[in-house]
Amino acid sequence: MSARARSAPGEARASAREAGSGDFRVGLLGHGTVGSAFVVLLEQRADEIERFNGRRPVLSGLLTRTQGDFEQILAGADLLVELMGGIEPAREYLLRALHAGKDVVSANKQLLSQHGEELFETARERGVRLRFEAAVAGVVPVVRVLEESLSATPIDRIHGIVNGTTNFILTEMTKGASYAEALAEAQRSGYAEADPSDDVSGRDAAAKMAILARLAFGAPVHLDDVRYEGIEHLHGDDLQYAKEFGLGLKLVGTAERREGGLSVHVHPTLLYPGHPLASVSGPFNAVTVESRTITEITMSGPGAGGPQTASAVLGDVVSVMTGGARPPAPPLPIELIDDVESAFYLHMETADRPGVLAAVTEVLGDHGVSIKSMVQRGMGQSARLVMVTHGVLESRLRRALQRVAEFEFVRAEPRMIRVIEEEFL
Ligand SMILES: NC(=O)c1ccc[n+]([C@@H]2O[C@H](COP(=O)([O-])OP(=O)(O)OC[C@H]3O[C@@H](n4cnc5c(N)ncnc54)[C@H](OP(=O)(O)O)[C@@H]3O)[C@@H](O)[C@H]2O)c1
Repeated sequence: MSARARSAPGEARASAREAGSGDFRVGLLGHGTVGSAFVVLLEQRADEIERFNGRRPVLSGLLTRTQGDFEQILAGADLLVELMGGIEPAREYLLRALHAGKDVVSANKQLLSQHGEELFETARERGVRLRFEAAVAGVVPVVRVLEESLSATPIDRIHGIVNGTTNFILTEMTKGASYAEALAEAQRSGYAEADPSDDVSGRDAAAKMAILARLAFGAPVHLDDVRYEGIEHLHGDDLQYAKEFGLGLKLVGTAERREGGLSVHVHPTLLYPGHPLASVSGPFNAVTVESRTITEITMSGPGAGGPQTASAVLGDVVSVMTGGARPPAPPLPIELIDDVESAFYLHMETADRPGVLAAVTEVLGDHGVSIKSMVQRGMGQSARLVMVTHGVLESRLRRALQRVAEFEFVRAEPRMIRVIEEEFL
């Protein structure tokens, strides 16, 4: 996402000023979409923050590729805000700051999902805070809710629409646009980068789900532990058939406890209208937290954008200033499970002749796949068999579909999409 609203470099230099003795000095690394909005917001909110907190946050130094010196910024700051993105040198700078005993705020999901344990461990050792509200779902305050408000609640599952670009594209596709048309519209509206691969491949959502899983379950989940699938291969007709079953399509990240282990994955997923994520459309993000004790809580809001993300970043700064945040907790060893049960939507293209349906349902039945609803449609020479199954282990369904694909009457590789059955009505 890149609704870029950057200040000119000259303005940036003018914003860093001499700090007074009672000031809280904020060193900023990065002055792009979010960094420049953060500088503006910090100036706008400084009086109010000083009024209730007693200390005034001031920008004490600013680093970009062309200005500022990291050593000086580190030495002159009480806290560093990292809004550069990428792995290096962000990782090195954050480790240096934490080792120097400085609190750190970052919005960098790629860094946290790949090097989080190293950073958390260092923060723990040094007794300093590492805050990252803006790294997941932008301004939606899911990190703080998991860490603080729900810290006494055993969490069973989290579902998240945590990538606004793909949610925008899927919303457009639901209205009838093709994938290519919807992506072009997302780029025109500033919701997708010129290179959207991290978003549409599901990798960006996977990074955020790794961070959420770490928070909710305490397990050291790395981006490489998250299975993900994007939206590039989706067919418009799957969205139309899904509508006939009353289902809507979203790219959903899931982190859930399963038989003593943990499963974390991101997939295109179909939802019934009663699910709280079903109505989240356009570039919005939302996260649903499920627990036996609280049923479910859903938080939603803008997932990106300079001013929106900057507000989550400044919230983290204030939380450190007020002493509200703790150093990260040590990780818990939890086994990661890959193969989990789900309901699935299936799409099969076959020859249009008697016996096809019976043969397909027999193979599915032999593999323990039971069908909840089905549509069969003749299209001249060929037919479409579209169905929604009851819950079944993914590996079992894949084996069944391999067998189905071997029938000579099957005209194309069968397609499958996960379905979430809960509706919370
Ligand atoms: N954009 C959003 O809506 C959004 C939402 C949530 C989270 N985030 C996260 O926020 C972070 C910042 O995103 P952004 O969109 O603001 O990025 P951006 O517009 O690309 O800005 C990056 C800034 O970092 C500076 N920078 C990059 N590499 C540097 C290096 N090696 N040394 C010094 N400075 C360097 C750049 O310097 P120059 O100015 O010299 O190029 C630029 O000022 C990322 O981690 C991103 O994932 C962004």
